[in-house]
Amino acid sequence: MQISPISFDRFNALADEACQERIRAARARLGKKAVLLCHHYQRADVYQYADLTGDSLKLSRLASQTDSEYIVFCGVHFMAEVADIMSSPSQIAILPDLAAGCSMADMANLAKVERCWRELGAVVDVENAVTPVTYINSAADLKAFCGDHGGIVCTSSNAGTIAKWALERRPKILFFPDQHLGRWTGHNLDFPLDEMVVWDPDLELGGLTPDQVRKARLILWKGHCSVHQMFQKSHIDAFRAKHPDGLVIAHPECNFEVCQAADTVGSTEHIVKTIKEAPAGTRWLVGTELNLVDRLAKEVLPQDKIVQFMATTICMCSTMQRIDPQHLAWTLENLADGNVVNAIRVPEHEARLAKLALDRMLAVS
Ligand code: 13P
Ligand code: SF4
Repeated sequence: MQISPISFDRFNALADEACQERIRAARARLGKKAVLLCHHYQRADVYQYADLTGDSLKLSRLASQTDSEYIVFCGVHFMAEVADIMSSPSQIAILPDLAAGCSMADMANLAKVERCWRELGAVVDVENAVTPVTYINSAADLKAFCGDHGGIVCTSSNAGTIAKWALERRPKILFFPDQHLGRWTGHNLDFPLDEMVVWDPDLELGGLTPDQVRKARLILWKGHCSVHQMFQKSHIDAFRAKHPDGLVIAHPECNFEVCQAADTVGSTEHIVKTIKEAPAGTRWLVGTELNLVDRLAKEVLPQDKIVQFMATTICMCSTMQRIDPQHLAWTLENLADGNVVNAIRVPEHEARLAKLALDRMLAVS
């Protein structure tokens, strides 16, 4: 029997422990009808319930492969949108707290990207000269823009492959919204820094001269991640001075100096895998979100590996953090009662074009 949706107010004040019991009970009632996908940055009290975990690339593949009716996405808004786009029309993607966005994704929007495209078009023949590449950390309408203009999506684990794909088609890339991932990718493809220009969406022609636009190979949107901007090269220098044998691993959303100074750079999945497979007795400095680093540090400590967080201040992804036991319990209990709350539905015309850009990515990577 279906009953009307339970309001979140009834869960807001619940203690974490009470939520845990209700999450377990609701999951038992739902069985295989619901699958829980969790990004590596999720807090421990939510991550423990994950059926499947991964970085953005792995999670987008998993979303296209699951056959559960409900895909409960413990991550941020753009990830749940990808799950909706990549799953079948009968499946429903759910984000337990609709306020779990990504501040970097919000640094680019369709109006600004379309204006950029128009302004670039006054200088070069955009449709033949520029491939738009959007980082998966972006809204569905930007993925659709890429689908519509011969472009593609990339993630932190396939950006190099995707950039090569793009450059085989057209001589320039417009990369949004993360300038750091774009710059690191271009650097790995041997582009000198002066062939990579930054497009400031608040300035006319991105703050560039027509000549700079004509010469540029990579046009990098002026966006960044508020979490990864906290990591500095000075943190790495201090670590190396104290631990000359220590190893440094960073996410490519870190700034260029940090990526250059690290021993290895890669996605969250790469970070987890590299440290888990590293020899016993190694010590690591890690430049990515704190929930991941804390979890990993605990997991590898019995193998005599030491994992340290790169920054001296606490920097968590505050939006990922919004998916808490209260929201998860509320979502699952409603689903078990037959009430769908917080469904993420990308409009059909947008989903079709965004899927084109995502399918191109999955085919290449
Ligand atoms: P990954 O794809 O490496 O998991 O990165 C997602 C993200 O948002 C990092 O800040
Ligand atoms: Fe977005 Fe940064 Fe959070 Fe990743 S860590 S979801 S890029 S705000």
